[in-house]
Amino acid sequence: MTAALPQSIHLANSEATLELGRKLAQTLPPNSVILLEGDLGAGKTTFVRGLAIGLGINEPILSPTFTLINEYVEGRLPLYHFDLYRLESTETAELFPETYWEGIEVDPGITAIEWAQRLPYKPPSYLNLQLEHTPTGERQATLMFIGLDNIAFAMSNE
Ligand SMILES: Nc1ncnc2c1ncn2[C@@H]1O[C@H](COP(=O)(O)OP(=O)(O)OP(=O)(O)O)[C@@H](O)[C@H]1O
Ligand SMILES: [Mg+2]
Repeated sequence: MTAALPQSIHLANSEATLELGRKLAQTLPPNSVILLEGDLGAGKTTFVRGLAIGLGINEPILSPTFTLINEYVEGRLPLYHFDLYRLESTETAELFPETYWEGIEVDPGITAIEWAQRLPYKPPSYLNLQLEHTPTGERQATLMFIGLDNIAFAMSNE
């Protein structure tokens, strides 16, 4: 398994968090998984809104805290948005998250999982995005590519 060096990215405001998601979404291949970690209000859903914009999804992205999974199918690729905040890892296993990231029973898409630390097991390769509050009310992102040999799509500066 390969793990590229973590990239640290300063996000000065919500627009910067959106923009990070938007940029990534333009290059992510089908069956990509993004595991999102960070405290309450760290910006996880904001990042997923950016992903949706980058995929060309016009529907509003609502936090799936109660529904657990929301699916958006109108973009370049389907977006599967999980929020595991309310779950224990045994309950999370019952959601069969691999159904989504393997893209076998569903159309291959982008799976973004909030509170991914609640997952009982992880996919063989994924992007890990950690979001942290800074003392000044901004955010610090740490992006790691785990198990991905081809990180060419990681970040372009365009
Ligand atoms: N880089 C940033 N700087 C300052 N505020 C930000 C930044 N990114 C997002 N926010 C703001 O933080 C607030 C919480 O964002 P968001 O709902 O995306 O967090 P979350 O991690 O999904 O929270 P939860 O844990 O409740 O799911 C929103 O008001 C959002 O606009
Ligand atoms: Mg959220």
